[in-house]
Amino acid sequence: MTDKTQISIRALSIKPSLTLEISSKAKALEAEGKNICSLSAGEPDFDTPDFIVEATLKALKEGKTRYGPAAGDPELREAIAEKQSNINKIPTKAENVLVTNGGKQAIYNLLQVILNPGDEVLIPSPYWLSYPEITLLAGAKPIKIELSTKDNFKINIDSLEEKTNERTRLLILNSPNNPTGCVLSIKDLDAIAEFLRRHPKILLMSDEIYEFLISSNQVHHSFGKIAPDLQNRVFTVNGFAKAWAMTGWRVGYLSGNPQVIKKAIAIQSQSTSNVCSFAQKGAIAALQGSKDCVHEMAQIYNKRRDLITNRLKKIKGISFVQPQGAFYVFPEINLKKIDSISFCNYALERVGLAIVPGIAFGDDNCIRISYASSIKTLNDGIDRLEKLIASF
Ligand SMILES: Cc1ncc(COP(=O)(O)O)c(C=O)c1O
Repeated sequence: MTDKTQISIRALSIKPSLTLEISSKAKALEAEGKNICSLSAGEPDFDTPDFIVEATLKALKEGKTRYGPAAGDPELREAIAEKQSNINKIPTKAENVLVTNGGKQAIYNLLQVILNPGDEVLIPSPYWLSYPEITLLAGAKPIKIELSTKDNFKINIDSLEEKTNERTRLLILNSPNNPTGCVLSIKDLDAIAEFLRRHPKILLMSDEIYEFLISSNQVHHSFGKIAPDLQNRVFTVNGFAKAWAMTGWRVGYLSGNPQVIKKAIAIQSQSTSNVCSFAQKGAIAALQGSKDCVHEMAQIYNKRRDLITNRLKKIKGISFVQPQGAFYVFPEINLKKIDSISFCNYALERVGLAIVPGIAFGDDNCIRISYASSIKTLNDGIDRLEKLIASF
């Protein structure tokens, strides 16, 4: 039994990850010999491209195994600055960049630097499940901005205004979005930039980790590009996990004004220090190499998105906003009196399907289905979902 007196108030406020709970339940059932189909993963099913692995092996053999600067390998900071300047059109220098242990640490460090107790953070909901928890860890308060399927999960500026007050310090954006797959247009971003201009104390964090995983009729726009006048208040989070299939490497980055970045480096230097030295060499290879591998994987996700959404459209009792990016669909389950956790538990127990309850992302009417799986697995998963819904 755990002794609650050993646990800090801060740690008590943190929820364990529902995603991990579902996957450990699924693994336990598999270990009992049950046939489980998992569409719950938040990571690519591809291996990291060979040229990245080769560059990393070379770095290891050359002895790149020692401590490095907490801010990141200077060559990688330079390569990220170049990528952001040329591809994202956000003028960036190496001093604007901190290399982090994945995008998650970029968010964690940023929020530790900019938030004080009592500050409020506007989080459009559905949201990636770590935003509210990282906000709480910084002593601040997550304020959810409810988005609905009826508005195609678009951010309504009036609801942002309604939730804004003198304590509001940060707005979090994520496009392409986990879990909805929605992509913000230039028009959406312009309206948000106008909102920021009306509220000069509010900062913005733009999480662009799925930028390359986008359907061919969409274009990703970085917030930092569309509002150069707000450059001191805009922070970009990104990483190598999703586009280059490098989830386990733990390489991400934060970019923004150098005063904040300097403090984020200080926090990193007193917590985790540098990101794994040779993993950073792999990230340099990823940025300097051909992007063909990224585009090939994105094309495959596009085919899978078409398959899964075409099949979901045919299931009665489900409705969804057509995802445009990332690798998730977030359907609403139109069954009476069933919450998302019960639905996902039934899915696992009755038909052996692992999916994630929408409540983990702030919407208890929805479920998150990942299509980072083979066509065969996707078809199997949707067969199971059909069978489950027919059973109600
Ligand atoms: C929206 C979003 N942001 C950030 C991350 C963090 O990615 P990582 O820390 O693996 O780079 C994830 C991972 O699932 C995500 O979905």
